[in-house]
Amino acid sequence: MSDAGTTHRFAPAPRALADAELLVTHAFAPLDGFLGSADAGSVRARRRLADGRGWPVPVTLDVPADLADAVRTGDEVLVEDPEGTPIAAVRVAEVWEYAGTHHVAGPAVPRRRPAFGVFRRQHLTPDQARRSFRGDRPVLAVLADAPPHRDRLAAVRLAAAARDARVLLLVPTAGDRELPPESLVRLAFAARDQLGDATVVAVRLARRDDPVADLLLTTHVARAYGADALLTAQRDPGDAAVPLVAPGPVGYDPATDAWRPVGDAVDLRAPLDDVAVRELLDAGEPLPEWFTPPAVAAELRHVRPPLARRGLTVFFTGLSGSGKSTLARALRDALVERADRTVTFLDGDVVRRMLSAGLGFSREDRDRNILRIGYVAAEACRHGGVAICAPIAPYAATRAEVRRMVTEAGGGFVLVHAAASLEACEARDRKGLYAKARAGLITEFTGISDPYEEPTDAELTIDTGTVPVREALREVLAHLTKAGWLSAAG
Ligand code: ADX
Repeated sequence: MSDAGTTHRFAPAPRALADAELLVTHAFAPLDGFLGSADAGSVRARRRLADGRGWPVPVTLDVPADLADAVRTGDEVLVEDPEGTPIAAVRVAEVWEYAGTHHVAGPAVPRRRPAFGVFRRQHLTPDQARRSFRGDRPVLAVLADAPPHRDRLAAVRLAAAARDARVLLLVPTAGDRELPPESLVRLAFAARDQLGDATVVAVRLARRDDPVADLLLTTHVARAYGADALLTAQRDPGDAAVPLVAPGPVGYDPATDAWRPVGDAVDLRAPLDDVAVRELLDAGEPLPEWFTPPAVAAELRHVRPPLARRGLTVFFTGLSGSGKSTLARALRDALVERADRTVTFLDGDVVRRMLSAGLGFSREDRDRNILRIGYVAAEACRHGGVAICAPIAPYAATRAEVRRMVTEAGGGFVLVHAAASLEACEARDRKGLYAKARAGLITEFTGISDPYEEPTDAELTIDTGTVPVREALREVLAHLTKAGWLSAAG
C-alpha cells in the first residue's frame, strides 16, 4: 500500500451496503464511489453531479459520529456485509456532514465478492450480463418488482416485439419491496418461461423515498446492464423536469445522453388491480387463470397464503394487573383447542423468567425485553404460526418496531389494548405491587412512577377492568375471525 492510511471496518445499513455492491460492479456507472459534499449537494439541487453529468440520487455512505471522528483523508474504510466479509474498500477523500448525518466519501474498489443473500448466482455484474447478450439485438429492460400477471407480460411482449429486442428482467433484491427478494426472483423465472426468451438478472437495487428518483436510478442501472430501453410501469411521475411520461418503453439516446419515451404508451390499467389480487389471496380464493399464469399464482399463494394460514402476532399491551395475561392465556387455550393453528405463547412474566432473565425496568431494559419478544414472534410468524404476546410494552415506538419486524417476516399484527384503568388495576392489586410502588419500595413502576403510552394504533381496545374475561375472549375471537385470521368454521 503506497499511502499509510489507517484501515477502518464498517458494516453499513442495508441500503448503503446495496449501494456499495452496485458501485464496485459499475452498475452505478459513471459513479466510482460514494459522493462527497459538492456532488451530493448538486444532485440534491438539480439531479446532476457537480461536473454536470446527470445523476438522480445522492449515493452516500452514512457513518456514525465516532467513526467520522476517527477517519482521516487517505484512510481506507472497508465496507462489510452482515457476515463480516469486506465487499468494498473506500479510499477516503472527504469526511462530511449534512443535516446532522456524517458521511465518508471516496472511490470504492471491490474486495471479496459478496457472499450473502438469496439467489446469489443470479447476481451478475453488468460486464457478465453484457457478455451473455453478445450485442446481437437491442435489449429491453424490465424492472421485475411486481407479479407478472398476463397484462404485464403482454406489455413486455409488445414492447420487445416492436424493437425486436431481447428482454432483460432486472430483479431488485435489496429486500425493500412489497415481496421478498426470493419471491421476486421466482416470479421472474415464471415470467421468463412465459416470455420464452428473457434473461433474469438480480441486482441489489435499493429503493429511495422518491418514485421519480427511483425511476431515474433504474434507467441508469438498466443502461449499465446494456439496456437500450426500459419498460416502466411508472404512471405520471409528476415532475415536469423528468421527461418520462410513460407507462411504456423509454429509450436511451446516446446523442443527448437522455431517456425519452419510445413507441406507444402501454395501457397498464389492469382488469384486476393490486387490491383485488390481495383480497383474493387473503381469502384463499384462486386467481383467475385468464389473469395470472398458474406458476405466478402458485408463487403468490406460497408467499401470501390465506390469512387463516398466515403467520399472526396478537400483541396484548396494558398496565400490570390489567388482565392482559389472563386474556392472552384464554386466547391461547381457545386456539390450541381448535387445532387449526400452532401457538407460541410469550407472556410478560414468563418471558422475564426465561428470555429476558436479568433485565430490569429501565426504558432500555424494557425495550430490550420487548424487542426480544418481537424477534421470537416474528420467527413464529415466518413459519405460519400464531404468536401471542402479553407484556406491558409501555412505549409506542417499541410496539411499532415489533409491528414492523412481524410484518417484515410476512406475518399479520393485531394490537389489543387491555385498557383497564389505573384505578381498576390498583384496586385489584393482585400481586401487591401497586401498594409497594406507592410506598416507594418499587421504583420505575408503570403507571405510578413510570410512563405508559396509550396505544393510538390498537386494532382492538377492551376495557378489561369491567369486561369479564369470557366476554373479552369472545371479542378477540370475533375480531380475528372477521378479519380472516381464523376460519369461521374452526
Ligand atoms: S415491560 O415494561 O418490559 O413490558 P413486562 O410485562 O415484561 O414489562 O413485566 C411487567 C411485570 O413485571 C409486571 O406485571 C409486574 O409483575 C413486574 N414488575 C416488577 N417491577 C416492575 C416495574 N417497575 N414496572 C412494571 N412492572 C414491574
